[in-house]
Amino acid sequence: MSRSQNVHTPEEVERIRFAAGVTAQVRDQIAAAARPGMTTFDLDQVAGEFIRATGGKSAFKGYGDYPGNICISLNDEVVHGIGRPDRIIQESDIVSIDVGVAINGALGDTALTFGFGTQPEDVARLLRGTKQSLTEGIAAARRGNRIGNVSRAVERCAKRFHLGVVRDYVGHGCGIQLHEPPEVPNFAAYGEGPVLVPGMVICIEPMLTLGSWEVKVNRHDGWTATTRDGSWSAHFEHMILITENEPEILTWQKTM
Ligand code: MF3
Ligand code: CO
Ligand code: CO
Repeated sequence: MSRSQNVHTPEEVERIRFAAGVTAQVRDQIAAAARPGMTTFDLDQVAGEFIRATGGKSAFKGYGDYPGNICISLNDEVVHGIGRPDRIIQESDIVSIDVGVAINGALGDTALTFGFGTQPEDVARLLRGTKQSLTEGIAAARRGNRIGNVSRAVERCAKRFHLGVVRDYVGHGCGIQLHEPPEVPNFAAYGEGPVLVPGMVICIEPMLTLGSWEVKVNRHDGWTATTRDGSWSAHFEHMILITENEPEILTWQKTM
């Protein structure tokens, strides 16, 4: 039977904490290696090497028929971009990387979006607002609250920054499988959702836009989601452990 939530044992939490830490480190290595002039395929290959060096494996490659090591989504691409040898990263692009590493029977999942140099005012607002929405979502991830409190915190912040909230993709439970219950929407829609209890691990991942919430999936690769209106989009994702006290950010590292 399907469960609405997934509470991990202390032994599982230890393994998940380790996998999430490794994943965060790899995320930061990839972000530091990304340069204009590289193709997104180059960046995916470099990511594959960083992942291999940990002794773990990509948690995404082979998930469904996903072919990449990581997801790389530029500009109006929202999520699930696949590295391409014909896509050269430009100085003016914003690059979202989403990284998953499976190691020792657990896994991590984390994402961030960055640019090179100074951003135009609206793009800077997109990056700042999306990151801030994640921060405010995390602050609501406390025992006794419900998933709906997290969703509302993210959505409210997005509204304050005048950003569109993508509805077709949501955050999720995580840790042993990539996608576990519960769903963690970035908008209040499903009612209150399950109560948060210690031992739950959730990925909070706002996907926000400078325009409308509507997205479409590339019909040639079956994966890359772009905004319908062509507006630019950002994505930040952390894996959070619900504890007795403050939420623990399992994918915390220097980049974010
Ligand atoms: N990392 C994505 C998420 O945050 C899922 C990627 S789907 C995959 O949920 F196919 F690329 F693995
Ligand atoms: Co992810
Ligand atoms: Co995720």
